[in-house]
Amino acid sequence: MNMKKTVIAFISSLLVLCGCSASQPASEEPVSGPEETTETEETAVPGEAGGKELLVYFSRAGENWDVGVVEKGNTRIAAEYIAEKTGADVFEIIPVVPYPENYNETLAIAQEEKDNQARPEIKNVVVNWGSYETIILGYPIWHGDLPMIVYAFLESYDFTGKTVYPFNTHGGSGLAGTPDKIRAVIPEADVRDGLALTGKTVQNDFGSVQPEIDAWMHDNNFIP
Ligand SMILES: Cc1cc2nc3c(=O)[nH]c(=O)nc-3n(C[C@H](O)[C@H](O)[C@H](O)COP(=O)(O)O)c2cc1C
Repeated sequence: MNMKKTVIAFISSLLVLCGCSASQPASEEPVSGPEETTETEETAVPGEAGGKELLVYFSRAGENWDVGVVEKGNTRIAAEYIAEKTGADVFEIIPVVPYPENYNETLAIAQEEKDNQARPEIKNVVVNWGSYETIILGYPIWHGDLPMIVYAFLESYDFTGKTVYPFNTHGGSGLAGTPDKIRAVIPEADVRDGLALTGKTVQNDFGSVQPEIDAWMHDNNFIP
């Protein structure tokens, strides 16, 4: 375990001891970080209290591939549905520096981050990390890869004893090998094969992907 993970594991265990929980509604601090802002309220989705599943996702609203300008990112739409059905607690990865609304600008920034193997700073932290055994991890494909901020997230926590269920949205690349990329970063975790959803369909025709998501949740014993 590296130093960062040790520190976070330590903070998590303190939070467990104090009885703090990520399962509380946003207004009762589901996340904490350098800045407590109303953003956390906007992004949190209530799950069932006391659940052992945590759904972590990264998603970007604004202009995107094939969908125009959207108020809610594609991955977030899928994430909210999965959270509602499973009762998982939810943690949205929020960048310290938000990505631009403009698609081309975001493409350029993401390319630069990938070229530099950047680890963009995350604004918020998961409280009570130690209480979760199951992590459902949602992200978009960026330049045939995980967004660098998702690597930053994975490298910040100790996944010992955790099972990770990845899902993603994409514009045609599918999984893009991301489950293996995740395995390489957190070899201590049991990382399952992922679910890939076309972002545009999630955004514009959710009913047609819903059965696939339901089947994935069923196959992984999240729902009956
Ligand atoms: C910076 C950036 C890079 C992208 N690169 C890819 C890619 O390599 N392959 C792909 O299929 N889609 C790519 N896309 C499309 C996104 O994966 C797709 O629109 C996804 O559903 C966006 O999810 P979100 O709305 O949750 O952010 C890219 C989008 C952005 C913004």
